[in-house]
Amino acid sequence: MKILVTGGAGFIGSAVVRLAVARGHEVVNLDALTYAACLDNLAEVADSPLYAFEHADIRDRAALDRIFAAHAPDTVMHLAAESHVDRSIDGPGDFIETNITGTYNMLEAARAYWVQAGKPEGFRFHHISTDEVFGTLGATGQFTEETPYAPNSPYSASKASSDHLVRAWHETYGLPVVMTNCSNNYGPYHFPEKLIPVVILNALAGKPIPIYGDGSNVRDWLYVEDHADALLTVLEKGPLGRSYNIGGENERSNLELVQTICAILDEAHPRNEGSYADLITFVTDRPGHDARYAIDPTRIREELGWRPSVTVEEGLEKTVRWYLDNKPWWQALQARKGVGERLGVTA
Ligand SMILES: NC(=O)c1ccc[n+]([C@@H]2O[C@H](COP(=O)([O-])OP(=O)(O)OC[C@H]3O[C@@H](n4cnc5c(N)ncnc54)[C@H](O)[C@@H]3O)[C@@H](O)[C@H]2O)c1
Repeated sequence: MKILVTGGAGFIGSAVVRLAVARGHEVVNLDALTYAACLDNLAEVADSPLYAFEHADIRDRAALDRIFAAHAPDTVMHLAAESHVDRSIDGPGDFIETNITGTYNMLEAARAYWVQAGKPEGFRFHHISTDEVFGTLGATGQFTEETPYAPNSPYSASKASSDHLVRAWHETYGLPVVMTNCSNNYGPYHFPEKLIPVVILNALAGKPIPIYGDGSNVRDWLYVEDHADALLTVLEKGPLGRSYNIGGENERSNLELVQTICAILDEAHPRNEGSYADLITFVTDRPGHDARYAIDPTRIREELGWRPSVTVEEGLEKTVRWYLDNKPWWQALQARKGVGERLGVTA
């Protein structure tokens, strides 16, 4: 199968590209190489005859038409997006343009290509989205695929808009789509502005480890390689028009998560004195910070037989070791604009 992956130089996209190539699929990676991209994430596939790269922006419709015509993909996995909530608070415009207008361009380019190719049977447009579109939960309950949308940040509102467009293109034009909404990912190659790498890298540097608010916000943590496997499962087996929630079955509060990372580091790379947990510092909360996300994984488990393979403790152990072993990778990215700064504090 030849898959056109958008955003393949990002965190999740690169895991998808690596896994798809390892499974013998051809991959065309379409990426604009924004601040969040890193082609080093793809070093292990860069020389593969199965891999091709297209430097292009999903806001550029003409470029998309050219790429569809040049590569004639069998299927599309659309991951390209602006993805950092804190950056969406400071500058929502890029999120509107890439996540909404860019997705609209992808849908129109895919539709034109699919119609022109005679509506081939196996074609799919797989839209990758987030559980943040559902808003926030209280202490109990889980998001199902039927949970009403109630996004609270510019990021999640832009992703919710893109989800609605994808659904409408299926209902109105018959475009063969599948959709997924997943929980927070973590793992190797996670960009050093997101919570888990920030914790690991600040700890290693002996800097304060920032926790927003009181650390009680709960997320359902999904190991990125498990997510990539789930995405290929949905692409191959999901019925048209169906959406699937993907979770890690690993709910933890931010404080519990950070304490676990500190305990792993205490074993793997002990400090001269004391525990890394001594560096934990509570900082002003993020405006509109959702209290809790949790995924009900029943649909993907029962219909497609998919479950995550690792617990959050196992995944964090692998992740911490990866950061310890890959210093040049994260050091290069720490020099990028905004990384290491507190963003998104003004409501
Ligand atoms: N990271 C998570 O925990 C998480 C959770 C749920 C859903 N998602 C979704 O998964 C997808 C991938 O997330 P990620 O964490 O890998 O993001 P990321 O920020 O690491 O990577 C995004 C990639 O998209 C590319 N990109 C951005 N704007 C583009 C444009 N206009 N044209 C072409 N390419 C562009 C970037 O260069 C980058 O390589 C996103 O759609 C995101 O909403 C992420």
